[in-house]
Amino acid sequence: KAGLKYFGAATDSPGQRERAGLEASYAQYDAILRDNNEFGQTTPTNGQKWLFTEPEQGVFNFTEGDIVTSIAQENGLIQRCHALVWHSQLAPWVESTNWTADALRDVIVNHVTKVMEHYKGKCYAWDVVNEALNEDGTYRESVFYQTLGEEYLKLAFSTAAKVDPDVKLYYNDYNLESPGNKSEGAVRIVKLLKDSGIKIDGVGLQAHHVASRPPTLDQQIAVIQSYAALGVEVAYTELDVRVELPLNSTSLEWQKQAYKNAVGACVQSPACVGITIWDFYDPFSWVPAVFPGEGNALLWFEDFSKHPAYYGAIEAL
Ligand code: XIL
Repeated sequence: KAGLKYFGAATDSPGQRERAGLEASYAQYDAILRDNNEFGQTTPTNGQKWLFTEPEQGVFNFTEGDIVTSIAQENGLIQRCHALVWHSQLAPWVESTNWTADALRDVIVNHVTKVMEHYKGKCYAWDVVNEALNEDGTYRESVFYQTLGEEYLKLAFSTAAKVDPDVKLYYNDYNLESPGNKSEGAVRIVKLLKDSGIKIDGVGLQAHHVASRPPTLDQQIAVIQSYAALGVEVAYTELDVRVELPLNSTSLEWQKQAYKNAVGACVQSPACVGITIWDFYDPFSWVPAVFPGEGNALLWFEDFSKHPAYYGAIEAL
């Protein structure tokens, strides 16, 4: 259907789940994740982030990320890899130092190089830079931007292209799913890189939607077209649709429509290569911890029954 290559679900490594106080092993969960009739792709929700991969300068640890990579390899799942340069879940040593431009350049190059070399050949795509934009389309004041300005984006992508010329390189962010200041910011980033002769292959739409006010089907199709016009592909990288608690039949119906429209926008857009939901099982969702009073953002309830939205997604495929 159009350009669709995969429908997948992100997952955390059992070790991460355990530290979050969640039961480490759920046989039923693991069976669904590995069921190729449900999913053809996965992304580690945490294990490849800076905090875990380079907790101290020059000290690399791939334990958590490798767990999800093995699951992908053993079960024939495409892996999206996430995320190299991001202001959040960054190792404290990066955040708390007053870097000179030269020193921070070395830090970025070394991190991108070592992490990408480790996962070489095992990723369909890398989120090279994550969440560089504010809602108004200006750049976020991260340690990277404050020290290097927009040069850090060029450095991250040009380094990534050198390390692995075969993997798709993505800019990934949230609220890029309808046209506006932020989507124009993403367009600006793609142009900045392309105009500098630096490789960028895709724009990742995180798509953390809210059941009561999701972007419309037409908005999503239009914004995907605005990225595609620059010659890049698009993917839904972290789709979930959170609902105000307690649930009721109206909000579940809104959620079903929201999933149907997100999946439908991708399916109907030739540039959209795939859809990843940000885990699939409500108890493992990041939503309740970050948005108090909201939850049930995924497709499987706690008792492993399926949301109406599961069938909404299927209808759109
Ligand atoms: C979330 C994870 O799912 C949580 O487990 C973690 O505590 C915080 O990060 N945007 C991103 C993802 O790019 O990496 C985030 O994942 C959700 C928002």
